[in-house]
Amino acid sequence: MKKFTVLTLFPEMFNNFMTTSIIKKALYEKLIAIKIVDIRDYSIGKHHQVDDYQYGGGEGMVLMIEPLVAAIKAHQTKDSVTILLTPQGKQYVQEQVQQFAANDNDLILVCGHYEGFDERILYYIDYELSIGDYILTGGELASMVVIDSVTRLCENVINTQSHLNDSFSNNLLDYPVYTKPVEYDGHYVPEVLLSGHHQKIAQWREYEALKKTWLKRPDLLEKKNLTTEQQILLEKIKNEKKV
Ligand code: ADE
Repeated sequence: MKKFTVLTLFPEMFNNFMTTSIIKKALYEKLIAIKIVDIRDYSIGKHHQVDDYQYGGGEGMVLMIEPLVAAIKAHQTKDSVTILLTPQGKQYVQEQVQQFAANDNDLILVCGHYEGFDERILYYIDYELSIGDYILTGGELASMVVIDSVTRLCENVINTQSHLNDSFSNNLLDYPVYTKPVEYDGHYVPEVLLSGHHQKIAQWREYEALKKTWLKRPDLLEKKNLTTEQQILLEKIKNEKKV
């Protein structure tokens, strides 16, 4: 069972997250475990201090090293990997999600806040992850992103077939999907999907996934080793676009 331990100054942020939808179900069925740890429980002094002014002067408070390291050490085991959520980390992508889901390590997710954390924290973690090139007020949302994305790949959480076709997992975006009604405001569901012809539907989906990727995220195709068949399809798509 995948175990996540989150070290945060704002445990209440996780209440809705853990009691809603797939995460709630995965917890209930013991497919994952999540432990939320309040860094304040490891604060020092009678004022329960966790942050302080930065040396050298400047705006904003900095998370102190002592409570953070004490919280980390209290939860690290020989099977755990300690991850600091920070915009300076390595960009989090689906390949990393798959690795986290596939190995047996428990994940300790350390959420920074305020203006930052004492840089010496880097001696006590295994790596730094960023969920994108923008600055959040803290690592909490980022840690929820990690938990959510890894959980859906854990065994028996969702139908396996639905993540084999995930966008990004094969460097292609998903093909378009439709449900009732067949016509909405003059917009129709593509006829092939109503045909019941499985082979034609599969071909259409492959074509549309490739087309969507080329139009919206051509950068993904650079990474992908296309089969000869897909290369032919792609040429066809490009030529169609020119007409
Ligand atoms: N904390 C603040 N911004 C972040 C980001 N982009 N990714 C991960 N953690 C963060």
